Amino acid sequence: MRIDIVTLFPAMLEAPLGESILGRARARGLVDIRVHDLRDHATGRHRVTDEPPFGGGGGMILKPEPLAAAIDALRAAAPASRVILLGPAGRRFSQAVARELAHRPHLVLVCGRYEGVDERVSEQLVDEELSIGDYVLTGGEPAALVVADAVTRLLPGVLGDEDAPARDSFARGLLEHPQYTRPEVFRGASVPDVLRSGDHGRIARWRALMSLWRTWQRRPDLLETADLTPEEQKWTDAFRQGRAPADLPD
Ligand code: ADE
Repeated sequence: MRIDIVTLFPAMLEAPLGESILGRARARGLVDIRVHDLRDHATGRHRVTDEPPFGGGGGMILKPEPLAAAIDALRAAAPASRVILLGPAGRRFSQAVARELAHRPHLVLVCGRYEGVDERVSEQLVDEELSIGDYVLTGGEPAALVVADAVTRLLPGVLGDEDAPARDSFARGLLEHPQYTRPEVFRGASVPDVLRSGDHGRIARWRALMSLWRTWQRRPDLLETADLTPEEQKWTDAFRQGRAPADLPD
């Protein structure tokens, strides 16, 4: 997969994209991520990329021409591009959207800035707008990083453990179960016995139960659309009646 990111601030992206799992995925050629400076597509002596809004009001708006030049060049460079503008007014990004995007051969992520982007860019040049949540960032760069990260880790070979994405929080619409590592006792709190039992069946059941319990406690909204097994459905009914995991038969 190729991901092109268009920004006025390439340095905000270069360092994080060079580290850890994303950095390794790029080095191994599993994903081709390129960062482009929007200013390179601005013309005139001052290479202006933004202007005040028509109609007044504060702030600066990104002009359409440099964005159009950048997007046109990138659409021409790769087939079947999906051009996405990051902004707070977009469709909400989620694990389902990440999975959808991971199937595409080419993403172009356009970072909005300042008070916004000329509306004709949204209307004519991009395929969709995405928001990473109901809060306002100073620009789309952190959002582009979020999308690039969430999509890249789903690509074949990027995570060492090929099953990991299937076990993730949200993969089945539930939060992940708690995890523990050494030491067995930390500040008086012990690792649950079952995890040290070596009984893989009991461990899997405990994890499924705790995943459901955590979801019930922290994100009950997810249970409305989660895809539950008959046993999970029974546990959910028990939670609804006020019971906790410790009250359920082993
Ligand atoms: N730019 C500013 N706020 C944003 C948000 N919540 N999501 C995506 N891009 C943004």
